Amino acid sequence: MRSLLPLAVVATAAGTALAAIAIRQNNGTETMGGSPTEPAPSGNPGTPGPSAPPASGTGTETVSSGVIPPTTTPYMPYIPPGGIGVNNTPPQYVALSDFDWQSINLALNQEWIELDLFNYGLAKFSVQDFQDAGLYAEDRFLIQFMAQQEIGHAMLLSNILGPYAAKPCTYRYPFNTVREYIDFCQKLTRFGESGVYGFIEHLDSRPAAQLLLQSITTEARQQMIFRQFLGLFPMPVWFETGITQSMAWTLLAPYLVSCPAENPRIAWQNFPALNVTNNPDATPFVNASGIGNNTNPAITNNRSEPLSFGGRQVDFSWELPGRPIGYNDSYRTNTTAGPAKFVAWVSQLNTTYTPLENINGQSGTTTQPDPRVFGDDTAPVINGTMFVAIVDQDIAITPANISELNSHIVAGPALYQAG
Ligand SMILES: *[C@@H]1O[C@H](CO)[C@@H](O)[C@H](O)[C@H]1NC(C)=O
Ligand SMILES: *[C@@H]1O[C@H](CO)[C@@H](O)[C@H](O)[C@H]1NC(C)=O
Ligand SMILES: *[C@@H]1O[C@H](CO)[C@@H](O)[C@H](O)[C@H]1NC(C)=O
Ligand SMILES: *[C@@H]1O[C@H](CO)[C@@H](O)[C@H](O)[C@H]1NC(C)=O
Ligand SMILES: *[C@@H]1O[C@H](CO)[C@@H](O)[C@H](O)[C@H]1NC(C)=O
Ligand SMILES: *[C@@H]1O[C@H](CO)[C@@H](O)[C@H](O)[C@H]1NC(C)=O
Ligand SMILES: *[C@@H]1O[C@H](CO)[C@@H](O)[C@H](O)[C@H]1NC(C)=O
Ligand SMILES: *[C@@H]1O[C@H](CO)[C@@H](O)[C@H](O)[C@H]1NC(C)=O
Ligand SMILES: *[C@@H]1O[C@H](CO)[C@@H](O)[C@H](O)[C@H]1NC(C)=O
Ligand SMILES: *[C@@H]1O[C@H](CO)[C@@H](O)[C@H](O)[C@H]1NC(C)=O
Repeated sequence: MRSLLPLAVVATAAGTALAAIAIRQNNGTETMGGSPTEPAPSGNPGTPGPSAPPASGTGTETVSSGVIPPTTTPYMPYIPPGGIGVNNTPPQYVALSDFDWQSINLALNQEWIELDLFNYGLAKFSVQDFQDAGLYAEDRFLIQFMAQQEIGHAMLLSNILGPYAAKPCTYRYPFNTVREYIDFCQKLTRFGESGVYGFIEHLDSRPAAQLLLQSITTEARQQMIFRQFLGLFPMPVWFETGITQSMAWTLLAPYLVSCPAENPRIAWQNFPALNVTNNPDATPFVNASGIGNNTNPAITNNRSEPLSFGGRQVDFSWELPGRPIGYNDSYRTNTTAGPAKFVAWVSQLNTTYTPLENINGQSGTTTQPDPRVFGDDTAPVINGTMFVAIVDQDIAITPANISELNSHIVAGPALYQAG
């Protein structure tokens, strides 16, 4: 447990890295930020080029149907009609709604723990400890550099949020060895990354979303590097998945011990905790020559025995709602779902379900499915560091409406180490 306060850095940079200093607002109608006289983007989709030819389709093929007919006439001057904010509209690098503010502030809390975590492991473990895990001076420097990236990300998000932005907290961590530390880093960055993908398309401020995206693509690289440090296959999926803010907050909250009193309350839900009691374990260290068993740090390793497979029995236990959670125990877990019936597997573009079986109080089992993203001969959906949750109903979900799942969560999500 420790606290780390690079506040001087942040305070110095606030208002310079970005001109916008946001103030907190209560609804999405006010203009805010460093340019209070500039109107919010109106939603004008941009000015069509004057010489844009009529689309050569039937006229029934419209943007709303997702079908843009081909044209043989070139657009002049190379600006096809459409797009948002392409008419030199002044960008607003600020939260434009409570939804924006609370989403970005959650992401900021995530950046703060990453900054602390990366530095904490470097300080906790000796050079020899790292070497025993196959990690050397240049690897440690890379982790140190990743911590510095987090300073940049925290500055950026603090500037977007303005004076009420969350400050760093103190944290607790569930690891005792270098391999466990690296494993926790690849898990924490997984839900940090996926937590942003889940809401970024729904932000009111597209300019703020873009800056956040440019941070989170960096975090995506961190996640992959931590997988490589564990000797895992670096990216065993075709698509990185998104989860809701409440799912991300549920996964983050247990590691926050105490936060400054002035930190704004986090609006999202904490679901009851879910434990995969036989989660595949990526931490055992095998220093083998040859392909198959090696888990030494590497750009990539093939494993002869994958960490998990379709047909595997997966065991769960979960908590009842009402438990204090989060910093200063100031939040409570809650659920609005009915009885536990299914396991939701959230990975790639998909939320798929299996029946929950052998239900006994707050425990149960299921069988790992083997769906394919686009059907036969395409990527297995279930792979990598992904998410599982206990739910009451197997509702249809696509990436844009995964928040519909929140009200059906009995417990979780938990991370599932599928591969
Ligand atoms: C919300 O926006 C409306 C304008 O639509 C305004 O009248 C109202 O004062 C705003 N509410 C708050 C709390 O800012
Ligand atoms: C892995 O094995 C090789 C060959 O035996 C040895 O040189 C190397 O030091 C070992 N690495 C670790 C991290 O144990
Ligand atoms: C949490 O507890 C710490 C230590 O007692 C205290 O300094 C801090 O103000 C508390 N924060 C909140 C949000 O109550
Ligand atoms: C989850 O279950 C495993 C296996 O029973 C146990 O070792 C671990 O302590 C549990 N973790 C939590 C957070 O309950
Ligand atoms: C991998 O480990 C298994 C179990 O220890 C062993 O049977 C097998 O020969 C090993 N394979 C390689 C390629 O080292
Ligand atoms: C690695 O594994 C894939 C299947 O996952 C296999 O097609 C490929 O041949 C393997 N490559 C090596 C070098 O073992
Ligand atoms: C995950 O991907 C790796 C690398 O392609 C593969 O070896 C493994 O079998 C996959 N695991 C599952 C559960 O599909
Ligand atoms: C969950 O939230 C609802 C609505 O806010 C509340 O009525 C209920 O008491 C809460 N349940 C628990 C277990 O805290
Ligand atoms: C996975 O999601 C994609 C995109 O929404 C969809 O086309 C595909 O049918 C889904 N696959 C499964 C197995 O649900
Ligand atoms: C989510 O969106 C998909 C695609 O539009 C739709 O089929 C599904 O019914 C939606 N789910 C819910 C719960 O609204």
